[in-house]
Amino acid sequence: MTGPIYVLNGPNLNLLGLREPEIYGSATLDDVVELCRRTAAEAGREIEARQSNHEGELIDWVQQARGHASGLVINPAGFTHTSVALRDALATLEVPVVEVHISNVHRREEFRRHSYVSGVATGVIAGLGIDGYRAAVQFLCSRG
Ligand code: DQA
Repeated sequence: MTGPIYVLNGPNLNLLGLREPEIYGSATLDDVVELCRRTAAEAGREIEARQSNHEGELIDWVQQARGHASGLVINPAGFTHTSVALRDALATLEVPVVEVHISNVHRREEFRRHSYVSGVATGVIAGLGIDGYRAAVQFLCSRG
């Protein structure tokens, strides 16, 4: 039996739709989860979606994904630019990992251009709004 695709969202993404809508749009986190669930269901697959404002909790979930998930989508939000520990956890995974950013981090402040996560991700999607999550889940479904 193929394991679920984990969809992890980092800090402040619980405020999607309310938080800086001119940058992140009006869709909510529930909309993102529903989009991922629908996309996976089209391929007969399931997702396990979680959000946390806490670095350690995200790391615990990455560790849980080991040996269980068939792939992982992560929007590490602010931890993208700060967390060696999250990168180290992701590096232990043997399944594909897609890093997603709703905004195009390369068009924004200089500090957003560096990601600790990209170097251990299979691929990176930025700037497509929440459609980036759909593309990530489709890719992971196609990888089996
Ligand atoms: C983000 C971009 C990050 O720089 C920022 O800290 C976020 C959201 C995005 O989805 O565009 O919280 O990951």
